[in-house]
Amino acid sequence: MYETINSSVNYGGLELKNRIIFAPTTFGLSDEEYFEKIRRIAAGGCAMVIIGDVPVGKSMIEKSLFDKKGFAYYQKLTEIVHSYDCRICAQLHQSDSNMLAMLKYVPGVLTKKISMQELRPLLNAEVAPYISKLSVKKIKKITDGFGKAAELAVKAGFDMVQVHGDRMCGSFSSTVFNKRTDEYGGSAENRARFAVEAVKAIRSRLPELPIDYKLAVRQEEPHYGNAGVLESELGVFVPMLVDAGVTSFHVALANHSSLEDTIPPANHPYFKGQGCFLKYCDEVRQFTDKPITGVGGLNDPAFVDDQLASGRITCAAMSRQLLADPEWPNKVAAGQLKEIHRCVRCNRKCLGGLQQHQGTHCIYEKG
Ligand SMILES: Cc1cc2nc3c(=O)[nH]c(=O)nc-3n(C[C@H](O)[C@H](O)[C@H](O)COP(=O)(O)O)c2cc1C
Ligand code: SF4
Repeated sequence: MYETINSSVNYGGLELKNRIIFAPTTFGLSDEEYFEKIRRIAAGGCAMVIIGDVPVGKSMIEKSLFDKKGFAYYQKLTEIVHSYDCRICAQLHQSDSNMLAMLKYVPGVLTKKISMQELRPLLNAEVAPYISKLSVKKIKKITDGFGKAAELAVKAGFDMVQVHGDRMCGSFSSTVFNKRTDEYGGSAENRARFAVEAVKAIRSRLPELPIDYKLAVRQEEPHYGNAGVLESELGVFVPMLVDAGVTSFHVALANHSSLEDTIPPANHPYFKGQGCFLKYCDEVRQFTDKPITGVGGLNDPAFVDDQLASGRITCAAMSRQLLADPEWPNKVAAGQLKEIHRCVRCNRKCLGGLQQHQGTHCIYEKG
């Protein structure tokens, strides 16, 4: 039963024991709580865990590979995950938030005159001027940072890296945010340049390292996603990224719209179904034979196995289902389907928990 889910695969040069990947997920928890969550997910039988939002430079907000404490933190994570015969991937990202511009909203947030929901569009409005005015020197420093971060990630024990194609890569990719008139703006080729240079910076330092790319796709009619790559421009971006050194793609809807679009609840008007973003995988497949991971509302074993067996996707990534039940892969392998706590895509305690600053949890958690 579900033989394809349980079959091993070569994922861009990395051997995975089965086809289930824990999608990048930010938790907002204490170190100890986070280590325990990741331990349970690795113990639950998935083949690889992707650690979300690992910055490509020093950071005052996030744990950074570039300082001693952050490096030790990531080293500990890789040890925990490896002890369960599970692989671990670092999602390398550069924020596209203009920290200086953000400072002016701090008093409003502290006095609660601006809610977190109101803050999001205000920050989004700062992205286009930031991306469009960034100096070429700063761009080169950031793209080079992807290479340095990948080197540190490998030293800390990561098996592969994923370049986060949203955030700054996504904003450069999109005409919604990128209004530049130099070699980084205008044509699709120029808008792909930032991401391509980030990938090349990794490839030049680490010729053998598998590099996954989180390909954030945006669509018109109806309009969803603002950063990332338009469906009609995939034919330009995908071959350029492969030439730069990408060995696999992780395909999802682009960000900078509502978080409920990229993490859609069961009552979403457009993305409510199982495998809601798989149509983007089909589009990417037209331009590459590299492995492709699908993500988004995947949790029905029969459905997932069909998508894998038909070759539509190479791996299935899950965030919320493995939050709801980290043992999903083990239970599927053992045929204990009735024992699975199925994620109902309510978003109450996972996305909801994160938004309310209580950390990522699930309604199934006790206490
Ligand atoms: C609480 C939470 C945090 C997330 N954090 C990240 C992140 O740091 N980076 C990222 O690329 N995606 C992030 N995502 C998106 C997931 O990787 C995934 O694409 C999305 O949840 C859809 O998959 P699912 O239906 O299996 O949950 C997050 C999702 C959730 C629920
Ligand atoms: S809180 Fe709801 S949406 Fe989130 S993981 Fe749990 S069941 Fe799924």
